[in-house]
Amino acid sequence: MAPYPNPDSRSAALYARARRSIPDGASRSLALIRPHPIYVHSGQGAWVTDVDGGRYLDANNNFTSIILGHADPLVNEAVARQLSNGTAFAMGTEPEIELAELICARVPSIERVRFCNSGTEAVMGAIKAARAFTGRPMIAKVEGAYHGTYDHVETSLGASPEDWGDGEAPASVTYATGTPSSVVDEVAVLPFNNPSAARSIIDRCGDRLAAVLIDTLPSRVGLPIVDHEFLQSVFSAARAVGALVIMDEVISFRLGIGGNQGRLGLEPDLTALAKIIGGGFPVGATGGRADVMEVFASIDGQRAAVPSGGTFSANPITMVAGTACMAQLSDASFARLDEIGDSIRDGLRTVFAQQDRPWQVTGRGSLFRIHPHDRPIRSYRDAHLSDAEEAIMDRLQKRLLEREVYLPGYGLGCMNLATTDRDVGHLVEAVAAAIAT
Ligand SMILES: Cc1ncc(COP(=O)(O)O)c(C=O)c1O
Repeated sequence: MAPYPNPDSRSAALYARARRSIPDGASRSLALIRPHPIYVHSGQGAWVTDVDGGRYLDANNNFTSIILGHADPLVNEAVARQLSNGTAFAMGTEPEIELAELICARVPSIERVRFCNSGTEAVMGAIKAARAFTGRPMIAKVEGAYHGTYDHVETSLGASPEDWGDGEAPASVTYATGTPSSVVDEVAVLPFNNPSAARSIIDRCGDRLAAVLIDTLPSRVGLPIVDHEFLQSVFSAARAVGALVIMDEVISFRLGIGGNQGRLGLEPDLTALAKIIGGGFPVGATGGRADVMEVFASIDGQRAAVPSGGTFSANPITMVAGTACMAQLSDASFARLDEIGDSIRDGLRTVFAQQDRPWQVTGRGSLFRIHPHDRPIRSYRDAHLSDAEEAIMDRLQKRLLEREVYLPGYGLGCMNLATTDRDVGHLVEAVAAAIAT
């Protein structure tokens, strides 16, 4: 067992060095563990090795973007081949078309798709497309749901009991300091899994609403299972006021060959994708109905309704990696990911029961989230952690590091296809030992 924190480690020394050139020492706040993060040297399959030689079962997978496993040989081969032909050009490349065709073939609602470099950009592109197509300014989103760092979608991401207001009509709360209040004025906030409240909020927006943005397995909302009635209400209320539905499948695309929309039988107007479709490289994509996606097209040399670019959008390295990854995924792969996730959720439930802990685990497929309480979780407010509960999760993360498991501090787990039954046992035993001490 390697103690954490370890002030004599290379990771601790690297963090001290990083703080001299990077605010807070890290470009991604979520990758930060205090008093020092773990610096990775390499990853293979389901495991990563740090710069001190410590090994960890990766229960995060770069925030859900790795699905096959680290250093997948076929992805590496495709990237190596492309590397020797150059990495980025101001002209088109065939790999872009190949990945676009693969995505359109797998997802019936995606008739056309455009690539960008992140999920943030993919969601932003979908919102801009919806605004241009409908000529309306507003969006509606779920309280607490994370959709990247575009100003509008950060609305009510960090809502707390002090500012979240009425549960049936949540307040629209700014997130980053300095966000103009005019931003949140254009965003209506829906309580997850509350069909009647969602319908009346959408109705109230009426002909000002361009789109409802929805993630059907929202991690920050607690990874609750979505009610069919809620989805029906959102889709029918949006359609009734002439608004589009945008599904954020940035994470949930790892739930099935056609994403969670395939699993749930949904046909959104637009979809935001990212993470797994890049095969481990930076990526995003906005896709959807051909008529809506036309807003990105410049017709007869005129400026497009929604101009979009991006120096590295659809770069051939990402495109070949994405195709090499996605082409390896079949229905059997998703069935195996379900099996891995089910075994972890079952195993953890048994541990909590055996140790008489009022804890729970939520999730679906390869995604799971641990909660240090037994409040039934249907929406963000149920999952919202008190300071004391946050401290418990922080402690769990550190005790798991000592037992060779890397899980983010807020307890969202995600496994890749290289995970073995033995790895599942390792994770469950590590949690059992960590919470017993
Ligand atoms: C549901 C969801 N949407 C959008 C994003 C933003 O994606 P990216 O980090 O690639 O910008 C994330 C990132 O975690 C996400 O979880």
